[in-house]
Amino acid sequence: MTVTANANLTEGEFTKLSDLVYRHCGINLHDGKMELVRARLAKQMRIGRFETATDYIDHVLSDPSGEEFKKLIDALSTNLTSFFREKNHFDYLERELLPRLLADKKRRGNRRLRAWSAGCSTGEEPYSLAMILLEATGGGGGGQSAWDVKLLATDISTRVLAHARRGSYDKKRVEGVPSQLRNKYLAANKLDGRVFYDASPALKGLISFRHLNLMQTWPFAGPFDFIFCRNVMIYFDKPTQQKLVGRFYDFLAPGGVLFTGHSESLTGITHGFKYVLPTIYVKP
Ligand SMILES: C[S@@+](CC[C@H](N)C(=O)[O-])C[C@H]1O[C@@H](n2cnc3c(N)ncnc32)[C@H](O)[C@@H]1O
Repeated sequence: MTVTANANLTEGEFTKLSDLVYRHCGINLHDGKMELVRARLAKQMRIGRFETATDYIDHVLSDPSGEEFKKLIDALSTNLTSFFREKNHFDYLERELLPRLLADKKRRGNRRLRAWSAGCSTGEEPYSLAMILLEATGGGGGGQSAWDVKLLATDISTRVLAHARRGSYDKKRVEGVPSQLRNKYLAANKLDGRVFYDASPALKGLISFRHLNLMQTWPFAGPFDFIFCRNVMIYFDKPTQQKLVGRFYDFLAPGGVLFTGHSESLTGITHGFKYVLPTIYVKP
């Protein structure tokens, strides 16, 4: 058997694979991604001892459980993330959006706050959000908060979701967490001589991690007060982005806010949002 660092992938196989992936989860594997796909496929092929990409693709397609397809998507999706990534979003949330939302809700006797981290990867984004939410609603001190706060965190990759649920991060990864928040919400533990920081029960209690393909039906009703969908749409083409932005709009409450990644402005997309700041949009 030939084992290569990169999978041998013909143009025909690449087209078949990219069509499959696009139809399933909207990820747009254009021609420029061929080398990346080759590298990532090689590992899957090695694990399963497949000689050709066609053998591997046939195997994925013939698995009735869908588990092999999940592994393929795991291998092809890009999961780069960090705590408090694109910090200005968290600053806006803390200083502008939450004070406004909480004051409006208080006035109306509504104590419910709902948020969604769509494409949450290994959990750094929702845990960062949960820290800000707990600080704003007085739920971080161990006492009972007057607010009913819930954060939905979803991703298509089961591998990253497992990490997110575990909520354990090495020292390097938590460097972006302000020390006051780190001391309060992340507990240092030693495992095999290495220090890990574990998300506190208060953080975990706020978040529901769920497997969700954004291209499929969303089995919840909303409405959300804000949605973070950052550095996800960048992998989709314009028609897919257009549809997704429309669906986010429908799932937000009036006055609710959509945050997109820094390279994902809604330019070129028809939508009903009002621009607030770059990559921050409010539903009127
Ligand atoms: C680069 S990460 C972004 C993580 C985080 N939002 C951030 O900005 O740091 C993109 C995530 O989107 C997820 N993703 C890609 N396509 C998806 C889809 N169709 N449905 C749900 N999640 C998807 C990937 O699995 C990956 O974890």
